[in-house]
Amino acid sequence: MISWRELWQISRFRLTLLYGALFAVGVIGLLGLVYWQTAGFMAAQVDQILEVEAREFVKGGPAVLPKWINQDIARDARRISYYGLFSADGTWITGNIDHIPRILETDAPPRELSARAGLGSDARAMAVRLPWGEILVVGRDVTQLAEIRLILLQALGWSGAAIVIVGLGLGGALSVRPLRRIAAIQEASQRIMEGDLAVRLPSLARGDELDVLAAIVNTMLDEVHRLVGEVKSASDSLAHDLRTPLTRLRALLYRLEQQPALAEAQRAMAQQALAETDALLARFQALLRISEIETKARREGFSTVDLAAVLEQIRDLYEPLAAERGLELAVETRAPAKVQADGELIFEAVNNLVDNAIKFTPCGGRVAARIIQTHKGPRLEIADTGPGVPALERAAVLQRFYRSARDRGAPGSGLGLSIVAAIARLHGFSLELEDARPGLRATLSCWPSWSRGAEG
Ligand SMILES: Nc1ncnc2c1ncn2[C@@H]1O[C@H](COP(=O)(O)OP(=O)(O)OP(=O)(O)O)[C@@H](O)[C@H]1O
Ligand SMILES: [Mg+2]
Repeated sequence: MISWRELWQISRFRLTLLYGALFAVGVIGLLGLVYWQTAGFMAAQVDQILEVEAREFVKGGPAVLPKWINQDIARDARRISYYGLFSADGTWITGNIDHIPRILETDAPPRELSARAGLGSDARAMAVRLPWGEILVVGRDVTQLAEIRLILLQALGWSGAAIVIVGLGLGGALSVRPLRRIAAIQEASQRIMEGDLAVRLPSLARGDELDVLAAIVNTMLDEVHRLVGEVKSASDSLAHDLRTPLTRLRALLYRLEQQPALAEAQRAMAQQALAETDALLARFQALLRISEIETKARREGFSTVDLAAVLEQIRDLYEPLAAERGLELAVETRAPAKVQADGELIFEAVNNLVDNAIKFTPCGGRVAARIIQTHKGPRLEIADTGPGVPALERAAVLQRFYRSARDRGAPGSGLGLSIVAAIARLHGFSLELEDARPGLRATLSCWPSWSRGAEG
């Protein structure tokens, strides 16, 4: 769903609203003008009639005027005219008005009277002092005029409302498409940031601003992808090429060590050289493994993996070693925890984490592995009571070959955690190292960071 804030941030939406507002002001102004002109014109016409009538009556003189007035009243079938003749002190003489409305000033231009102000209906009227002292009031019903005014006012209100609604609706409709495209671009960018350099920003081939931008970024990504690929393949082929001579060297050393004629001291040296070569080979193996994991196509070979089953396998595998080293290995698997993943890789990751925990925890300690169900997915925790990793080194130990100075004497090559990190990256899972007070707690959150559940 698109929120109002997002909609407002779209320039097209604001432009449409602005046009809508200008248009509304224009139309309302135009209707206002029509209103004033029409109402004014009609009132002026009525006033003209009143003035002509008053002038005609004045010609009559005091003797015939009451008769004329009564004749006119009799002729006025539509009952829209008001006439009243009053003496100088305001006493009624004749006509269909029984008093002079108080707001009428004599010899002033005609003015509008409400129904309550005097004549019984909306009317325009004027009072004239006649040359012989009497006062004549002439008026005309303008109920129709009021009705037309009301109709005009209503039209004004309705059209204003319609323009605002249509403007808002149109602005919203026009903004939804660009918003959707921006969301698609955001999603693609997110996946690129997560390391999938093969993803490209979507474009509609319409050639608009967004397409031009997407094309530029995509060209950049092509170049970055190519360069990264070159660097990677150079280091991979180096590791690959060195493996064969190393294997040959190992075979030679083995044969040397097997020579019966060898003196004891020389045999010991040959055995040491053999062990070093084995360590070297293991390192190359691990390096190649990392690049193999990194080039794996995402989700290829993913299936439903039960983390609980993986932990049980690990327990069976490590129980003898833990016992031998005087460690307690506690594995807690209450319920199956299913995730979409590459089963072998998940096993390899957990294996490396438990291997570290057992390797670095001194005798008498405890290694605990468990699964916590969160609303986003299962979280795997492996904690030990060993020396832990200082906060400053927690990012470094995830890099290739990094080993804490303290542990350089221990067997290993500093590639185990790099492999775990590569596996986590491939799955979009997040790997965190924390202080378990004492010891280290490694947490693998087993849900892809690009999934909906992980948002927010
Ligand atoms: N559970 C742990 N407790 C204390 N330190 C740890 C723990 N796990 C890892 N480390 C530190 O992080 C470093 C890197 O770990 P990593 O698994 O990558 O390499 P390694 O175990 O030394 O060698 P490899 O795994 O290649 O055999 C270790 O050398 C160690 O200093
Ligand atoms: Mg390790």
